[in-house]
Amino acid sequence: MLIILLGYMGCGKSVVGQLLAEKLNYSFIDLDREIEKRTGQTIADLFKNEGEEYFRKIESETLNQLIKSNKTVMAVGGGTPCFNNNMELMNDNATAVYLKTPAGVLFSRLIKEPATRPLIKDLTSIQLMDYIIDTLIVREKFYNKAKWVIETEKLSIKKVTECIAERL
Ligand code: S3P
Repeated sequence: MLIILLGYMGCGKSVVGQLLAEKLNYSFIDLDREIEKRTGQTIADLFKNEGEEYFRKIESETLNQLIKSNKTVMAVGGGTPCFNNNMELMNDNATAVYLKTPAGVLFSRLIKEPATRPLIKDLTSIQLMDYIIDTLIVREKFYNKAKWVIETEKLSIKKVTECIAERL
C-alpha cells in the first residue's frame, strides 16, 4: 500500500508522513528530497537555475517512478497535485490524503521559514497572505479530489497521524 499526503506548503505533510511511516512500519519518501537527490540540486536552486517548468517535469517523472512503491508513506510538494495529471496518477495508485489547513495557519507557519521555498521567498508578509489565499482557491480544486480530507487545524501532529492510521 502507498499512502500519499498532500496539501499546501506548511500543512505538515512531511512531519505527519514521517510519524505515520514509523507507526505503520512503512518506508517514508519526501518527493522533494528525492528530486534533490536525483538532480543533485536543492529545490531552491532548481527553480533558480532551471525554472519552474523544468521542476514540474522532473517532479512528475520522479512521482511516476515512485508511484508503485509499497508499504510506503509519501509526502508530495504543495504544487504536485496541480500539474500534469499528477492527482489522477496518485488517486489511481495510492490512498491520497489531503491535510486541509486554513490560510491563516499556513501563513503563520510560512512567514517563519520562507527561504527554502522559492515561490514565496521574496514576498512581504502582506503579499504572502494574498498569495496563500489566491493560490489555495485554485489548488483546493485539485486537493479536494483526494480520497480522504483531514481537517488539521484543531489537531496535533500526533492526532492527525492517528486519524489517518485509524482509517486504513
Ligand atoms: C511547492 C511546494 C514545495 C516544493 C516547491 C514548490 C509548491 O514543497 O515542492 O517549492 O508549488 O507549493 P512543500 O509543500 O513541501 O513546501
